Amino acid sequence: MSAEQKVVIITGASQGIGAALVRGYRDRNYRVIASSRSIKPSADPDILAVPGDIGKPETAERIVREGLQRFGRIDSLVNNAGVFLSKPFIEFTQEDYDYNMGVNVAGFFHITQRAAAEMLKQGSGHIVSITTSLVSQPMVGLPAALASLTKGGLNAVTQALAMEFSKNGIRVNAVSPGIIKTPMNPPETHAALSTLHPVGRMGEMRDIVDAVLYLESAGFVTGEILHVDGGQNAGRW
Ligand SMILES: NC(=O)c1ccc[n+]([C@@H]2O[C@H](COP(=O)([O-])OP(=O)(O)OC[C@H]3O[C@@H](n4cnc5c(N)ncnc54)[C@H](OP(=O)(O)O)[C@@H]3O)[C@@H](O)[C@H]2O)c1
Repeated sequence: MSAEQKVVIITGASQGIGAALVRGYRDRNYRVIASSRSIKPSADPDILAVPGDIGKPETAERIVREGLQRFGRIDSLVNNAGVFLSKPFIEFTQEDYDYNMGVNVAGFFHITQRAAAEMLKQGSGHIVSITTSLVSQPMVGLPAALASLTKGGLNAVTQALAMEFSKNGIRVNAVSPGIIKTPMNPPETHAALSTLHPVGRMGEMRDIVDAVLYLESAGFVTGEILHVDGGQNAGRW
């Protein structure tokens, strides 16, 4: 191992965008701490799998402790684990609320606190969260108030932490996707979901990975909400 080899924590890494991020960071020779509830051990010695519910503080504590034991440092954190539920506002249940707040908000808070503490000791780091362009462009046909409530909070805290850590060498950014071809959106929904973008098509996982990796190497970019959404954020269509 090179002393220079960097280490990234990726949450929600078992499938979809998270699994693609693991490959993208490995291609850049990062060592990866990959977490999700169902994550399996990897044959790659540079990938440490830490299973657990990201909404629980003990999972966050384990990710950081075991990651430091194995790799000795934490350079980046990608808050990718997330859930999405579309339904009319007054039909959300207490379980829906707890689930969305647990994964999207508590799942950001616990791991980001612990990773940031290590980054502060190190004097460098990068935190990037995956939000959604529904925050800035909610749609009549896709009611998703809990996505706005939770992911909107992530956009806001991205800017707040970018300021708080601006003198500590830690950058804080977000990627705001449109609707992406992942297991979250089964193939039979793709034709309808394509129409929800000005460009008339859905995004690919690679589009989000490329955006995260751009932010990773963009040393003068912090507090940015980078929209990767086929034009959704720009206006109406
Ligand atoms: N796909 C889209 O169209 C789209 C659009 C906008 C934003 N996003 C955001 O992009 C991110 C990734 O989405 P995706 O489409 O790749 O989703 P996905 O295919 O449904 O994958 C979600 C990942 O999160 C993990 N996860 C879910 N609940 C968890 C929990 N309680 N604790 C730990 N891990 C948990 C899942 O693994 P386990 O089941 O193993 O826990 C899985 O690895 C999410 O934050 C999502 O909100 C996606």
